[in-house]
Amino acid sequence: MTGSVVVSEPADLDTAAVAAIVALWERCGLTRPWNDPVDDIRMARDSGHGAVLVATLDGRLVGATLVGHDGHRGAVYYLAVDPEMRLGGIGRRLVEAAEAWVRGRGIPKINLLVRRENAGVLAFYEALGWRDTHTVCLYRTLDPEKAEAEARMKAEWAAKLGD
Ligand SMILES: CC(C)(COP(=O)(O)OP(=O)(O)OC[C@H]1O[C@@H](n2cnc3c(N)ncnc32)[C@H](O)[C@@H]1OP(=O)(O)O)[C@@H](O)C(=O)NCCC(=O)NCCS
Repeated sequence: MTGSVVVSEPADLDTAAVAAIVALWERCGLTRPWNDPVDDIRMARDSGHGAVLVATLDGRLVGATLVGHDGHRGAVYYLAVDPEMRLGGIGRRLVEAAEAWVRGRGIPKINLLVRRENAGVLAFYEALGWRDTHTVCLYRTLDPEKAEAEARMKAEWAAKLGD
């Protein structure tokens, strides 16, 4: 890899910048029809306890993640590196930047979720010192209309994977 990678928290993210980040996450297989990454970015940034971190190489977007905290633990979502730029240390830089972001807010622990179908990525996090908590993550969608739509989209997605 020539040039130097810069990881930063952009102060301004215009529509085009958000679209580029979402396109990267889509290319990396991290988006799902029942999630809205544009909304996720907006809510994280508006909340005052979330941020988008980007990695650029000579100004070109090569990686991105969404980080935040709930006052008790930090959380990392959508961490991805351009498929053409992998195994060059950019993922590590993004994880370290997310950790620093959380640590800088006085939060001592950080979590992330890995989908079962993406379990291959666990070796990456293990290489960076992350460990399986051996806990089960439960969730519930609180808006009943959204929950129904989400259940339908998840069933469609599972059927597609089973094809
Ligand atoms: C996972 C991902 C972010 C790694 O990015 P990357 O820039 O290739 O990772 P790095 O080059 O910084 O690798 C850091 C370490 O992890 C190891 N590593 C990276 N990807 C790995 C993989 N898939 N399996 C095993 N080890 C891996 C590297 O060898 C390196 O180890 P080392 O420091 O001992 O040499 C990238 O593969 C990606 O975007 N994947 C698709 C999106 C995704 O699944 N994100 C995770 C969502 S939870």
